[in-house]
Amino acid sequence: PPPTIPADPGQYAISRMLPFNPFDPAFREDPYPVYRRIAENGPVMRTPGGMVVVLGHREASDALRDPLIGWGDGQSVAEHFGRDPEGRPVRQFIFMDPPDHTRLRSLVSGAFTTRVVERLRPRAVELTDRLLASAGSSFDLMDAIAHPLPALLLGDLMGVPEDNMDRFRGWSAAIGRGLDPDFALTRAQVAQRQGAREQFNHYFTELAARRRAEPADDLVSKLVAVEQEGDRLTETELVTTCTLLVSAGYALTVHLIGNGMLALLREPGQLAWLRANPDRIGAAVEELIRYDAPAQMISRTALSDTVIGDTPIRRGESMLLVLGAANRDPAVYDEPDRLDLARRTPARHLGFGHGIHFCLGAPLARLAVQVVIGRLAELDLAIADPGPRHTEGMVIRGLASLPVVAG
Ligand code: HEM
Repeated sequence: PPPTIPADPGQYAISRMLPFNPFDPAFREDPYPVYRRIAENGPVMRTPGGMVVVLGHREASDALRDPLIGWGDGQSVAEHFGRDPEGRPVRQFIFMDPPDHTRLRSLVSGAFTTRVVERLRPRAVELTDRLLASAGSSFDLMDAIAHPLPALLLGDLMGVPEDNMDRFRGWSAAIGRGLDPDFALTRAQVAQRQGAREQFNHYFTELAARRRAEPADDLVSKLVAVEQEGDRLTETELVTTCTLLVSAGYALTVHLIGNGMLALLREPGQLAWLRANPDRIGAAVEELIRYDAPAQMISRTALSDTVIGDTPIRRGESMLLVLGAANRDPAVYDEPDRLDLARRTPARHLGFGHGIHFCLGAPLARLAVQVVIGRLAELDLAIADPGPRHTEGMVIRGLASLPVVAG
């Protein structure tokens, strides 16, 4: 049976369900040696509490491509979305299986192709320069750049006025933290996740009503048009899709910028290489994702009996696919713990996921992060006291602050 929600993260539940302790400060600082030690016993393991944990690159890729592994109706974050006025469970499509997942994803995928998002490049450059101009010579990179830039860009795309994006920071953080399994959350955090989803949904219900009355050139207006065309999209689906795009896109892009810049500032040789090879920014960002991915893990449920690697998985078992471990699998990458922007990768990293749920926003995230990191790399920045501080939480790995000074 699924674990019940403890009043506070139950150390007992955590130690039975997970092979690591996400609340250990040393783990938060550097989880990679811990993953490596666990994977020494094999790329797939089962914890005493019955969680199947996948650490190998090939095994995690296989699990993400396996149609017998998905969300189902079981014990997952998807359970906590509540119900719509007709009593049907409300879910974002990231937590759905085909065919509903396929239908909803295809309605928005056109807005995120590489060709379409390329139009946002001048805007990303302009916003980055604007934020840098007001940052001064000593600033917190998270507050000054990493948070506002994705918020402003996503706001543009969706048609959310700039001054409304402020409130999305807190809501997105609550939703991001809520991706952690419930046994690793307090009751208050579960309630905050639900509250943030409701506030987001409420916000987009109102915005959709405004765009219905007065369409504009933005994604919310386009979805409103699809909803009005017929039976392809209900209003609830429209609203939860908008909430998904902002909440998934915002926090992960923020933390990709932060984790990527921290890795570069700690490796001045790599930073110098990037400065000398600005045309290699595309591959450099992929290596930064491999090296320290903001989405460290993905949850799934076995929909039927299946096999991953050599391990039989039983229907209904909960699975944790540790992307951060797969991205440093020594079976796939030479010297996996070395940041090497010029690396010739034999395999794609899994930082954007894999298979049918592969990150829909990847082209936009790549564009935004290439612009920001490319620009920041030109500056003579150094980490300032008191140094970086990691966020709490398990699924999303990122920084709460990264103080820097310009030389
Ligand atoms: C999945 C949007 C940035 C990592 C998704 C999905 C959406 C999305 C809609 C669900 C896809 C599906 O279920 O079919 C966005 C947007 C972004 C963004 C709009 C920013 C513009 C990022 C970044 C990362 C990331 C920066 C990490 C480097 C992932 C991962 C998944 C995913 C790992 C797969 C989740 C799973 O399989 O359960 N994204 N994303 N995303 N995204 Fe993104």
